[in-house]
Amino acid sequence: MEKGVQEGMESVNDNQSSAPPSEEEDRIAKAVELHDAGQYGDAESLYLEIIRGNPANARVWALLGLARYQQRAFSDAVVFFRHAVGLQPGNAVFVRNLALAFLGAGRLSDADEQFQIALRLDPNNSELRQEWARHKSTCFLAVPGGLQGIHAPQRQVYMSATVDLLKTIDRPLDILEVGSYAGASVITWARSLDRLHEQGGSILCVDPWEDNESLEKIDVQGVGTPADLIYDVFRHNASVCPERVRIDHIRATSGDALPRLRDASFDIIYVDGCHFYEETSADLVESHRLLRTGGILCGDDLEVQAAQSDVNWLRENKREDYLQDPVSGQPLHPGVTLAVHEFFGPVSAFSGFWAMRKTGAGYEPVSFAEATGLMPIHWDKPYKREVRRHFAKTNDLGAFVE
Ligand SMILES: C[S@@+](CC[C@H](N)C(=O)[O-])C[C@H]1O[C@@H](n2cnc3c(N)ncnc32)[C@H](O)[C@@H]1O
Repeated sequence: MEKGVQEGMESVNDNQSSAPPSEEEDRIAKAVELHDAGQYGDAESLYLEIIRGNPANARVWALLGLARYQQRAFSDAVVFFRHAVGLQPGNAVFVRNLALAFLGAGRLSDADEQFQIALRLDPNNSELRQEWARHKSTCFLAVPGGLQGIHAPQRQVYMSATVDLLKTIDRPLDILEVGSYAGASVITWARSLDRLHEQGGSILCVDPWEDNESLEKIDVQGVGTPADLIYDVFRHNASVCPERVRIDHIRATSGDALPRLRDASFDIIYVDGCHFYEETSADLVESHRLLRTGGILCGDDLEVQAAQSDVNWLRENKREDYLQDPVSGQPLHPGVTLAVHEFFGPVSAFSGFWAMRKTGAGYEPVSFAEATGLMPIHWDKPYKREVRRHFAKTNDLGAFVE
């Protein structure tokens, strides 16, 4: 992928967009020399100087875009490639580079749109067609927070083992996920249903995909809200999940969406939405109604259980997202710890992922000692290494499949 991007970008250099006066041509050649030598700052200063003298030179805008792109300043690259495209709307190379810059910036719908325009301009370009097809079939998690819980990637393996625990159910499994963000966990659920459950299944995702504090940190350069960007990324990731797993979503808070769902309609419910106490408690109460007997209620971010903390302190801090626990010294989500404690008491927990099985009489702990868990192949290499390290020294899982 990275190689394809680079090649695509390099082709900007070959593009003679206008016939500049020779003095300008010399200065462009000098800037390109600096650019090729990796002296981006000097090259960019010279490109900008040339643009000030001749703002209609599309090629220089595109070269500036390339320099920014190569330094992974994708939003800047979008701005400069846009100028180039504005000056030469029929130039398929510029449009393609704009698509790649949008992709780098995580703006997937914009990237799609530009890829389609580039293909209309250059329909026989098989490399471009392949590039687009590759993008359409590859998950995309390069957005801030795209991989949630990076300090404990093994949680994904326990999630897949949860699916394996229900392998004796002789029909497709139904999963409800509260809180999906960019879709990393949906990919884990979908792969698990595909690989570990013969009849596959369905996943319903509930998330408002609203602006929140962490989304505000995303640089979007004026197009769309950050939440819509994440929503786009989620829909893209849902679309690349295995086909035999059906994925639906409701864009709403769990408080609005869950009461509208039918009793006993899910086999697994994963609670990973708002982590404050009241919302988590309400999610647990509704999930209990929605879960079939024999099904598993589980969730994320239970770093410390109440017995290892101080319940009074948890109550005082139940509307804090993430704090250091004064008793255990570990960081934790006070709202999650308190809500889980009040609903169940102690639960079975695995590196922050917790799970309980619904029985006729209440809930019982689960064990993964005989279950198979999957490597989250959509996670980056360092996290996979971390997962291997974890299971090399932990024997709470029956089998671990790469
Ligand atoms: C921790 S992230 C989910 C991460 C995701 N499960 C993953 O592992 O990739 C929490 C998500 O919950 C969503 N959320 C916040 N409040 C919510 C609510 N009241 N109901 C449902 N989802 C909510 C946020 O929009 C955010 O996308």
